[in-house]
Amino acid sequence: MQQEMILVLDFGGQYNQLIARRVRECHVYAEVHPHTLSVERIREINPAGIIFTGGPNSVFGEQAVLCDPEIFTLGIPILGICYGAQLMAHMLGGWVATAPVSEYGETLVQVRTNTPLFRGIISERAFSAKDEMADTICWMSHTDYIAKVPDGFEITAHTDHCPVAAMQDNSRKFYSVQFHPEVNHTREGVKMLAHFVHDVCGCRGTWQMGSFVQSAITDLREKIGDGRVLCALSGGVDSSVAAVLLSRAVGKQLTCVFVDHGLLRKDEGDQVEAVFGPGGNYELNFIRVNAAEEFYEKLKGVEDPEQKRKIIGELFIRVFEREAKKIGAVDFLGQGTIYPDVIESGLGKSATIKSHHNVGGLPDHVDFREIIEPLRLLFKDEVRQAGRELGIPESLVSRQPFPGPGLGVRIVGEVTPEKVRIVQEADAIYREEVEKAGCAATMGQYFAALSNMRSVGVMGDFRTYDYAVVLRAVNTSDFMTADASEIPFEVLQRCMTRIINEVRGVNRVLYDLTSKPPGTIELE
Ligand code: XMP
Repeated sequence: MQQEMILVLDFGGQYNQLIARRVRECHVYAEVHPHTLSVERIREINPAGIIFTGGPNSVFGEQAVLCDPEIFTLGIPILGICYGAQLMAHMLGGWVATAPVSEYGETLVQVRTNTPLFRGIISERAFSAKDEMADTICWMSHTDYIAKVPDGFEITAHTDHCPVAAMQDNSRKFYSVQFHPEVNHTREGVKMLAHFVHDVCGCRGTWQMGSFVQSAITDLREKIGDGRVLCALSGGVDSSVAAVLLSRAVGKQLTCVFVDHGLLRKDEGDQVEAVFGPGGNYELNFIRVNAAEEFYEKLKGVEDPEQKRKIIGELFIRVFEREAKKIGAVDFLGQGTIYPDVIESGLGKSATIKSHHNVGGLPDHVDFREIIEPLRLLFKDEVRQAGRELGIPESLVSRQPFPGPGLGVRIVGEVTPEKVRIVQEADAIYREEVEKAGCAATMGQYFAALSNMRSVGVMGDFRTYDYAVVLRAVNTSDFMTADASEIPFEVLQRCMTRIINEVRGVNRVLYDLTSKPPGTIELE
């Protein structure tokens, strides 16, 4: 039976992945593809519905990005969001114009509740039952708007400044919303998306992690047969879940190589070994390579963040290759690649701010027949869910993201064993205190970093000249934007006191208030 699927056509909007994630939260599988996807391919995929994302362009500018008009003749329901809404209006004969007043942020939208999309929306204020209207808070971000709907469409929502906040043509199953139902600020957004995928597109909601895990194991068994699989294990969520899935499928035919580059958090290497190593929870062959000295040696004198990333990424692969050679030829190389790594961007590449060398890049000299990526279709939260289905300990499954180059990008400037020790110890204290205070739940990521600044202090009767530790904590849902978390002052103070007292070489503790943008989450 074909998997029911919603196709998200990406017009370059920053929330493209979020749309697919929200659809999957409705238990319907969704894939993101560039807006240039051919109509022939769409026919082959045969989606139950199509969603046009937002995008930075204007439908009438030189930069306008359109879609193949034939898409509107396929008989597939379409939902246009923001730019996608304007595109639908523009291409079907409506009129898009520059709005006299741009709307940005949370906006009160009046919707008609006798429509498929807005059925059951709970109003922010009371209407009489016969009005069939509701006021609901939605997230707006637009400078153009739909000034006139195309023939066959009717207006289903408006705001004080936007005459067409939503429109529909029920007979063709075309729907458009000017706002972003996929972001949390749109209070009833998920309900609207659920209405589209279930009621309009007729999806039953068969995408469940339990069944994904079962069918992934069956598929892996079939594909691997009695072949041998080699996997790089970093201890992070993705590679751990991939390894457990593979181990469930083929047991001892799997060998995992864990390269400890000496840039992990305090005790992390031992924790990984305890879970995956001999006497641990899983049936697999586990090899730990302690390569810290080699990494420190290569990083000596290197200050540039990008160069550090490159060195760590490359050396990781060389060490892995060396170990793999000892094992000899294998049939498959397993990787923890996840869906955000494989989605093509809607409008091509944006500027590289940081090159992300994930541990487990592709080695050149390992003898294998094929790459196997069991998590290729999953978003991060789905990977975690799959991990839970597989019975992986919660401490591992809900682990916050940790960069491939590890503490290498949390130590500003040159990496030395001494600085690694300082940042590991400070980070362990910080995490312990934050967890104890119970304020970790809302944070996307939090950690200690080491600035390259040394400053004068006084301890006892002595002058000190030591490093400043930077505490960082951010609230974020997508890691593309982030705000500093509000940690109670007494918790920060406790961390400061403990770090300065317990970690040799530190005489100052700073809390980083910077949002992203303009800052980034990691310091380097
Ligand atoms: P930034 O610092 O770019 O971080 O705001 C965004 C997210 O990416 C992680 N990050 C990395 N992950 N290799 C990785 O695998 C890297 O080189 C790298 N740099 C940053 C960071 O931890 C955050 O989750």
